Order: sequence, then structure tokens, then C-alpha cells
Amino acid sequence: MQAPANRVFSGVQPTGNLHLGNYLGAIRHFVGLQETHECLYCVVDMHAITVWQDPKELADNTREVTAAYIAAGIDPEKHVIFNQSKVSAHAELAWVLNCVARIGWLNRMTQFKEKAGKHRENASVGLYDYPVLMAADILTYRATHVPVGDDQKQHLELARDIAQKFNNDFLGEDEAFFPLPEPLIMGPATRVMSLRDGTKKMSKSDPSDMSRITLTDTSDEIAKKIKKAKTDPEPLPETLEALKERPEADNLVGIYAALANMDKAAVLAEFGGQGFGAFKPALADLATEKLGPLTGEMAKLRADPGFLDQVLAKGGEKASAIADPILQEVRRIVGFI
Ligand code: TRP
Repeated sequence: MQAPANRVFSGVQPTGNLHLGNYLGAIRHFVGLQETHECLYCVVDMHAITVWQDPKELADNTREVTAAYIAAGIDPEKHVIFNQSKVSAHAELAWVLNCVARIGWLNRMTQFKEKAGKHRENASVGLYDYPVLMAADILTYRATHVPVGDDQKQHLELARDIAQKFNNDFLGEDEAFFPLPEPLIMGPATRVMSLRDGTKKMSKSDPSDMSRITLTDTSDEIAKKIKKAKTDPEPLPETLEALKERPEADNLVGIYAALANMDKAAVLAEFGGQGFGAFKPALADLATEKLGPLTGEMAKLRADPGFLDQVLAKGGEKASAIADPILQEVRRIVGFI
């Protein structure tokens, strides 16, 4: 069975309130890969339920991510957009990989420690096992490249370790059934921070709506949030070193750079020495110019849930057609008759 040379897989959780960080840090980068790779973009609803989700909201949020994928420019005809639970291969492979992954490996996962916090004993088993399901997502398609934000690097390392151990345990040193997936860590503004606190990640769970720009905001709301973003009183610095000391300024410059496809140094070359009174309106204009059409298109798509459901159904069929023969092979390799 021939492994693919250039297959991309990535996923976004449907947990509501998609924001600028999800767009700049992930979805935007998915779009360009369509030129060079065969792409599968998944709405990972099975990952979402590792923490409680209201069933009706889960369905709604699944459509929201689907709309974001399409509005951003992912073509569901040429590539594959689907939700994870449509393809049972993910869960099936996850079980086999559960028996390959070691408890010691999972115990090192920092995201579980952060998410479970002090209530570790009360976290779901699924939350603990989350990274193994993520490895299964990728390996179910024998994907070669995985665009992820830097917070997912550790999970991708784990996926590589699991793939390697599966290959070694079942096939020996020089045969590789699963390719070791390469992370594609995404460019500037991969980490978009809160507009109220430049040291905290922009997050859907921040109680302040002013802390984030969501993909349901209108152009006016986007402009307002940028103009009210927290800053310090100094003008923008001239150098990247000086910018590092100023988290709020650094965040806004990073957002500008990502939206304009520039690097931060180029933004400072243009705005260094100027105050936020000049920079914020420029950023607000840029953000509404770039995001307005996206959020407008998303709103249109969300008004037609039947269409979105159809995209997911077709995508699920295409994904299953790739995954099923790979799972068939896994069953044979493991000795399931
Ligand atoms: N854990 C990823 C995140 O929170 C989402 C995800 C699930 C994913 N499965 C994946 C990303 C497979 C890449 C590949 O961002």
C-alpha cells in the first residue's frame, strides 16, 4: 500500500466563539496549503466533548467552524472538510494507538495539566487521552504534514513517537507503515494575545468580550475593540528588542504584521516613533478590510445550515474512502481477523 507524499491534516475544535487567534494562528494557514497538498480539514467534535458541551451548541459550533473554513477560502470540492465523528476510523485507530502509547508519555503532556488544573481526579478520561485521539486523526490518513500552532507542538511530537513505536513493534526497524508527521508551525502572530492583557492568550473563555475579536463580530465591532485595546502610553518602539518588553504593543504589532503579511520589523519601520493614536486607527482599518469580508461570508453561510451539513456529509464520505483501506491494513498488521 503506497503512502501519500503530501497529505495535510489539521483540525479545529468546535467549542464556540472562534476568534482572531484561531483565524491567524490556524485557519488562514490552511488555505495556502491547498495549492501544494491534498488537504483534510476536520472539525474535531470528538475532541470537543472531552470537556462538557451542550449537545445543541456542539452541533451549532460544528457548523460555525465549517463556515469559517469555507469563508476563509478552503474549497470543499477539491479538498476535504468534515467533522471527526462522521468517520469511525478515528475512534477505532485511537483504541489501537492507546495500546501503543505509554502512560509515561501522556503524563508529560502540559496541555492536560493546564486544562485539568487542580481538578485532575475529576477530569474526563477522554481529556487525558486527547493526544492519542489526535495522533489517530493524523495517522488514520497517513498524513505527512500537520499545520498547528506552537501550543500543539508537544502533541505532534507524541504522534510521531506513537507512529514510530507502532512501526517498530509491528513491522521492525526498516518498515514504516505510518509516516512520521511533520509539524508546519505557523508564521507571525501564531500566538494572538488578549486585547485586555498582552501576557494572556486570546481565548474564548475570557469573561471580557472586549478581550477578543470573534469571527462573528461586524466590522464596526472589530474597529471598536481595536480602538479600546489596552496599551501603554509610550509611542511604538523602533526595534524588535524594545518591542519585546511591551506585551500589548507587541501583540498589536503582531496582529498588524499577520494581517498585512509583513514581519514585525517592517511594521516598526513604518510606525516606530508614532503613538497609538496613529497606529490603532491604521490597524482598525486593516482589520476591518481583511476580516470584514470573512465575517460577512461566515454570517451568510451560517444562515444556510442545510448547505453546511451537506458539505460535512460529502466530506465525511471522501474522508472515509481514504481512511477505510488504511484501517483495514492496520487490522491485518495487528492480527485482528
Ligand atoms: N488539538 C488541536 C487544537 O486544539 C486540534 C486537533 C485535533 C488537531 N486533532 C488534530 C490539530 C490533528 C492537528 C491535527 O488546536
